[in-house]
Amino acid sequence: MAKNIIRHSYKVSVDNRRDLNKHNSFLLWFTGLSGSGKSTIANKVEEALHQLGIHTYSLDGDNIREGINRDLGFEPKDRTENIRRIAEVANLMIDAGLVVLAAFVSPYKKDRHNIRHIVKDVNFVEIYVNTSLEECERRDVKGLYKKARAGEIKNMTGISAPYEEPENPDLEIKTESVTIEQAVDMVLAQIKPKLYHKYE
Ligand code: ADX
Repeated sequence: MAKNIIRHSYKVSVDNRRDLNKHNSFLLWFTGLSGSGKSTIANKVEEALHQLGIHTYSLDGDNIREGINRDLGFEPKDRTENIRRIAEVANLMIDAGLVVLAAFVSPYKKDRHNIRHIVKDVNFVEIYVNTSLEECERRDVKGLYKKARAGEIKNMTGISAPYEEPENPDLEIKTESVTIEQAVDMVLAQIKPKLYHKYE
């Protein structure tokens, strides 16, 4: 594919940047149905990390699809490309020394597997925000489920398109049985060793 491309090697490395920040950089990937609470949890986790002095950045489906991925829809191949681009962007941000929080439906196992490949296993934390379809539909914050049931939206995850559950996520949050504060604590407890490993 990329012919005659020779990487330039830069003097400042990811490890230099991590040393400067005094924390590691990696990707927290929140997957789950639309309306499951991914962005809400990611937002609170980022706030908590920021207060701890951690350098962060959040990527979110609804925002990214207005910009870099505005040419993509919800057909399987578009979702695959959506996730691939986000993973590449996240990879650059990891290299820049950030803790990246990404909240995307990412319904296909093979796409999530590809993220792990792009950013490397050690930099990938998969968080399954598990909220039942019934509950997402009951909340229907954006009114999308109603439209999907009325046939106004095609390929709606959970209704007319599949969601493939993660089999072995690093963390599973069942939002119907924990509070948002508990969910945030669960994420922080999961990542703290990873965050400061080498810097304590
Ligand atoms: S993904 O499947 O490619 O990962 P992404 O997370 O970027 O999806 O975008 C999902 C958001 O787009 C949802 O939160 C919802 O607001 C909106 N959306 C619009 N149409 C659909 C659809 N057909 N399926 C899922 N989400 C949709």
